[in-house]
Amino acid sequence: MSVLPYALIDSGQGRKLERLGGVLVDRQASQAWWKPALAPKQWAMAQAFHHRDERGGGHWELKAPLSESWWLKHGPIQYRIQLTPFGHCGLFPEHEGAWSELAKILEARPEGSAAPRVLHLFAYTGGGTLRLAKAGAHVTHVDSAKGIVQWARENAEGNGAAELPIRWIVEDATRWVEREEKRGQQYDALVLDPPSFGRGAGGEPWKIEEHLLPLLDRCRRILVQSPLFVHLSAHTPGLTPLIKARLLEECFGDSGSVTCGELWVNEADGRRKLPAGSWARLERDSRP
Ligand SMILES: C[S@@+](CC[C@H](N)C(=O)[O-])C[C@H]1O[C@@H](n2cnc3c(N)ncnc32)[C@H](O)[C@@H]1O
Repeated sequence: MSVLPYALIDSGQGRKLERLGGVLVDRQASQAWWKPALAPKQWAMAQAFHHRDERGGGHWELKAPLSESWWLKHGPIQYRIQLTPFGHCGLFPEHEGAWSELAKILEARPEGSAAPRVLHLFAYTGGGTLRLAKAGAHVTHVDSAKGIVQWARENAEGNGAAELPIRWIVEDATRWVEREEKRGQQYDALVLDPPSFGRGAGGEPWKIEEHLLPLLDRCRRILVQSPLFVHLSAHTPGLTPLIKARLLEECFGDSGSVTCGELWVNEADGRRKLPAGSWARLERDSRP
């Protein structure tokens, strides 16, 4: 059976209308301050509508029963999609462009050189991990949620990538970095997409404004002197591209150049963009 692609159909009034493979869903998009381009009757065709509750959870209202999960394709990766109570579905499509650029950096390394060791923190359902591993990296995939790491492994299997060199770790990100430092481990590159709030595998609270800088400082100690890249993204409101860039400059600035920008998803009309967080990246200087 062919796997259908992801598409962002429309956005507006704080919502987005997406085709997740064969299923049309309507869920929150707090950045969509504008009016939708499509008529209400087209939005009403959504098969699933997400309601958020005040405590950050929520529920889906379904027009008709749906399979518990299904697959879609986005970029070169197939994702198992499942509607979770929080409104997440197993894919953050806005990262595809950045992952493709990181894959290019990895593929451009000199022939015969050792596989770069990449640490991927807050790695979710593994889209980034699979892109990096397919580009030749040895990836350590760290996420504190056991079920999410299992989901990432299913995505690896679904992409025929179960044999790629990936270590699947269920652990608090900061704890894992502390452990790796004690073991004297070194990585060539780092990718992280921390949430605003989270919990470590042992219930450790994660608050981005409190814990991101200490984590980056610690990561410096387990990275080689001149890392290939450090790619930081996040969806936290107020954590602008320039703030991310400055954090990277402060922690790693002596080892490369930092660029930054917004994340977005293109709408199906090919013209409109839905912003979705931002990123900053340190890359090894290629200048002599
Ligand atoms: C925003 S998602 C990352 C999305 C990912 N970049 C992607 O697009 O595929 C954040 C992830 O961080 C994980 N997480 C939250 N707190 C954590 C912690 N303290 N240590 C490790 N992972 C954590 C969550 O389980 C979740 O999978």
